[in-house]
Amino acid sequence: MHERTLVILKPDCIQRGITGEILSRFEKKGLKFIAMKMIMISKEKAEYHYAEHKDKPFFNELVDFIISSPCVVLVLEAENAIRIARKLAGATKVEEAAPGTIRGDYVIHIASNVVHTSDSPESAEREINNFFSAEELIVYKRDLYSWIG
Ligand SMILES: Nc1ncnc2c1ncn2[C@@H]1O[C@H](COP(=O)(O)OP(=O)(O)OP(=O)(O)O)[C@@H](O)[C@H]1O
Ligand SMILES: [Mg+2]
Repeated sequence: MHERTLVILKPDCIQRGITGEILSRFEKKGLKFIAMKMIMISKEKAEYHYAEHKDKPFFNELVDFIISSPCVVLVLEAENAIRIARKLAGATKVEEAAPGTIRGDYVIHIASNVVHTSDSPESAEREINNFFSAEELIVYKRDLYSWIG
């Protein structure tokens, strides 16, 4: 069974005009795009999305940042999609993000780190349901990817 993951291109990604470049990294890897939209995230959805961090000192900054400007939210599907997307995103700590990863190539400060990717199947399901209805998750076949769909 293929796994699904939620990716958010954060406000800094859209503001910097690198949305196409970042989308293209996920696309070129071969991850299947199941859903994608640009939205202003509500404070309620942002707080639910980041609930695991609610006691962290950076929580308010994190929520204020993600609601500050439009984001692109997308759902990607593949076997091991969650781990693959996190590898493409790179490490959270700036100095540990390897060149070749999104954060390794584009990020100089942890609070402005271009992408979010789900960290487990449970988080992915919760996060996808926070931003997408069932009808928005599009089922289709890719002919050129007949071995993975
Ligand atoms: N010490 C910090 N100071 C400021 N912001 C932080 C700090 N640690 C984490 N963050 C922000 O909170 C987000 C969520 O942190 P988390 O530990 O879940 O990292 P992650 O899983 O690598 O990132 P994400 O959840 O965005 O994919 C990070 O992406 C970053 O934007
Ligand atoms: Mg996380």
